[in-house]
Amino acid sequence: MATIVVLSGSGLSAESGLPTFRDAAGLWKQHPWQELASPEGWRRNPELVLEFYNERRAKAWAAQPNEAHRAIAALEQKFDVAVITQNVDALHERAGSTVVLHVHGELAWARGTGPSRKRQCLEGAPIHLGHTCGEGTQLRPDIVWFGEETRYMDEAREIVALADKVLVVGTSLTVYPAAGLVEFARNDAERVVNSLDLDEIPAGFRFLAGKATDIVPKVVAHWMSGTAP
Ligand code: OAD
Repeated sequence: MATIVVLSGSGLSAESGLPTFRDAAGLWKQHPWQELASPEGWRRNPELVLEFYNERRAKAWAAQPNEAHRAIAALEQKFDVAVITQNVDALHERAGSTVVLHVHGELAWARGTGPSRKRQCLEGAPIHLGHTCGEGTQLRPDIVWFGEETRYMDEAREIVALADKVLVVGTSLTVYPAAGLVEFARNDAERVVNSLDLDEIPAGFRFLAGKATDIVPKVVAHWMSGTAP
């Protein structure tokens, strides 16, 4: 069975009502990431960090997968598909995708701050100061902050390097190392990138400008019918 890898970012969930990071109304335009998404910010003001992620978690849990998430899930009818996502929402899984690597963590989960990092599923529920994991340490969002290690990177590089087709969607490709994954794609793989706009198109990729809910279902329809997008 041919293999497909989908590399997704926040633009994919924009039409589900979740904000991106660097667009005009993006999260990091409104809130400094140093305060909200770094170990230093957490040490300085954990209450503020919890409040920020509690709000995002509740919104992400209330959001629904869109046509693009659903089209990506439908690819599994014909292909061996892996999704590598920088998104912390669960919209890929909720649309039906079964192999999803969250390289920046997951909003729906909390983890302890002790060495074992014991995880606990919250779905859309908040974390408050004093909330502890089974081992007695304060819970924090199970999110990868700036300065922390991105997850599953070895596995992700291998998946990208083996894929017959690569679809990149909704990411500005500015945050490394996840953005560097596109460089591992095979030269003979069919490589497509969809976004509203992009400063730099990765080498060997075809750029399809437009909304994910317009473009992704079309790419998927082509791939399912065996034609080039
Ligand atoms: P960005 O905000 O950097 O980029 C979003 C991309 O999505 C842009 O290229 C937009 O043009 C595109 N876009 C917006 N709406 C779209 C739509 N409806 N259809 C298609 N494309 C659309 O977000 P990411 O690349 O996901 O990390 O950011 C990556 C990481 O940076 C995040 O995981 C987060 C952030 O800092 C951490 O928090 C560690």
